[in-house]
Amino acid sequence: MTLLVTGGAGFIGSNFVLDWFKASDEPIVNLDALTYAGNLANLASLQGDARHHFVKGDIGDRELVDSLLATHRPRAILHFAAESHVDRSIHGPAAFMKTNVEGTFTLLEATRAYWVAMTGEAKSVFRFHHVSTDEVYGSLKPDAPAFTEAHPYEPNSPYSASKAASDHLVRAWHHTYGLPVVTTNCSNNYGPYHFPEKLIPLMIVNALAGKPLPIYGDGQQVRDWLFVSDHCSAIRAVLAGGRLGETYNIGGWNEKTNHEIVHRVCALLDELSPSAAGPYTRLITHVTDRPGHDRRYAIDARKIERELGWRPAETFETGIRKTVHWYLDHADWVADVQSGAYRAWVDKQYG
Ligand code: NAD
Ligand code: DAU
Repeated sequence: MTLLVTGGAGFIGSNFVLDWFKASDEPIVNLDALTYAGNLANLASLQGDARHHFVKGDIGDRELVDSLLATHRPRAILHFAAESHVDRSIHGPAAFMKTNVEGTFTLLEATRAYWVAMTGEAKSVFRFHHVSTDEVYGSLKPDAPAFTEAHPYEPNSPYSASKAASDHLVRAWHHTYGLPVVTTNCSNNYGPYHFPEKLIPLMIVNALAGKPLPIYGDGQQVRDWLFVSDHCSAIRAVLAGGRLGETYNIGGWNEKTNHEIVHRVCALLDELSPSAAGPYTRLITHVTDRPGHDRRYAIDARKIERELGWRPAETFETGIRKTVHWYLDHADWVADVQSGAYRAWVDKQYG
């Protein structure tokens, strides 16, 4: 038995791979293109571990994907690989269409060919798990109920439009070809190995460097935050028992404004790593808003709880404290990411 994980050197993918091996010896083939967001240092603890087989490559490379499927015969594919940053999608949407839409299409076609040729039990247990986002549902009014799985798709950014397109492809490959798929739509993750271009790690890293903490617009936008290991446990639950053709929303029941998030991060840093210059909130600056900025996301995660018994283990308080501790304890990881040292290593290793 083997899993094929795509994007397993990114933030959530690497957390998933590390968590997986805490509880299982089932091997993982990890296909990742190592874009700026992929970082093998996240997986350094698996060096020499025969259970982890890393392959540097693109999900859009049909020949490569065909050969990995033929060689490793995975019982499931967990598809994390994507361009994931909304701001980057606004500045340069092409990469998002290439990986999130065309890449997912290629992966689905390769998977279909592999699955059609399967027989017996291997075929009946096989599944393709598509990892997606709550952003496909669009933006909620302040008093609107949280997104259920039946909420209409109303993506507003190039990123969310590309993820919505990929969700539709996955749905259509199930409906038309019978491909055994399941999709999960998750809220904002945070935790270890989060690339410091996203809100929480950026605020921690900038605060420690004495740099400005840029809050977009009025900072009253709401996100529903989930500690990354809870996302990983939800994916394991859906992999084990999720019904084929279904979608499951995953969220933390933790709606917070960006203003609240930044103030909480500052307060934790004041406690754990005080600055001689005074409270970290002194660094907060309000900057021009993100174009098309979604006002509020909130996930109704009752379906996954009802059907699979999953609930997050962390509260926001426990998760954010662990996260701030992790960044304080991993200054080297941050320095390598910021200096590009990890890219130099990748170039040396892979040419
Ligand atoms: P990330 O940007 O940290 O990592 C993405 C990974 O995919 C990187 O390792 C990158 O090298 C790899 N990748 C990119 N293009 C590739 C390609 N063409 N072929 C192979 N690998 C490629 O992203 P993340 O935050 O870990 O998100 C993982 C998945 O979860 C994405 O699909 C994202 O849409 C989804 N998601 C993220 C969040 C979140 O809060 N971060 C929430 C819900 C859903
Ligand atoms: O909701 C799930 C999504 O969460 C995932 O699908 C995406 O891959 C992931 O990047 C994340 O998207 P967001 O746009 O919500 O995350 P980000 O960390 O970029 O921003 C969170 C909020 O903070 C958002 O309202 C914008 C705001 N923000 C962000 C940055 C980077 C700021 O105010 N200042 C900043 O510097």
